Amino acid sequence: MGIWSEEVLPRATDVLLDSPACRRWRREVVKGLRGVVVELGFGSGLNMAWYPPEVTTVLAIEPSPVALRLARRRTAQCPIEVRHAGTDAQSLEIDSTSVDAVLSTFTMCTVPQPAAALHEVWRVLRPRGAFHFLEHGLAAEPDTARWQHRLTPLQRRIAGGCHLDRDIGALVRAAPFEECAVRREYLSGYSRLRPWTTLYVGAAGKGGPG
Ligand SMILES: C[S@@+](CC[C@H](N)C(=O)[O-])C[C@H]1O[C@@H](n2cnc3c(N)ncnc32)[C@H](O)[C@@H]1O
Repeated sequence: MGIWSEEVLPRATDVLLDSPACRRWRREVVKGLRGVVVELGFGSGLNMAWYPPEVTTVLAIEPSPVALRLARRRTAQCPIEVRHAGTDAQSLEIDSTSVDAVLSTFTMCTVPQPAAALHEVWRVLRPRGAFHFLEHGLAAEPDTARWQHRLTPLQRRIAGGCHLDRDIGALVRAAPFEECAVRREYLSGYSRLRPWTTLYVGAAGKGGPG
């Protein structure tokens, strides 16, 4: 806690995660979302510009008051209804099987127990609902992965609990989704920053009658 994590980090995140390379992937990951969407780690609302018109409501899960304040100008300009619906992805105060989709971008790195959060995602999704994600995580290349393991203790301290070395694909596959498609990508233009720019982009689906 303190000024760094409460005041500086949300503002830094607002700038750093709004690069052209990030925007490109945000546009990609929201495709196909519709209806009521839970967004985990809503942050400063950087996905609001890219949601398709079929999305009617966003239930924002976000613990940082500063990030939520930064988000206001984006939510005010957007026709989608946005409601702050909780502060912890690991324990959602949302009814089971009640939402059409869940979105998580650059959040699973920070949630203390990502497996618990993914179980919550599965719980709140309606049958045939979809979980879309865009996360950074463990690289496939052993050299980069070694650096990620080395750097993660420091990263956690300076970046609000962020882990560089989470295998997001394995975490999603271990959750109770019936379908999962995930691929590793890289943020273009940042080849020297591979420990921070290995991406997992994908979607997982809940089975059952739609
Ligand atoms: C790196 S930022 C990403 C913000 C946003 N998702 C984006 O794509 O710009 C991670 C966000 O996760 C939030 N966060 C941290 N712990 C969380 C938790 N347990 N549940 C939900 N969100 C959390 C942080 O406050 C922060 O806004």
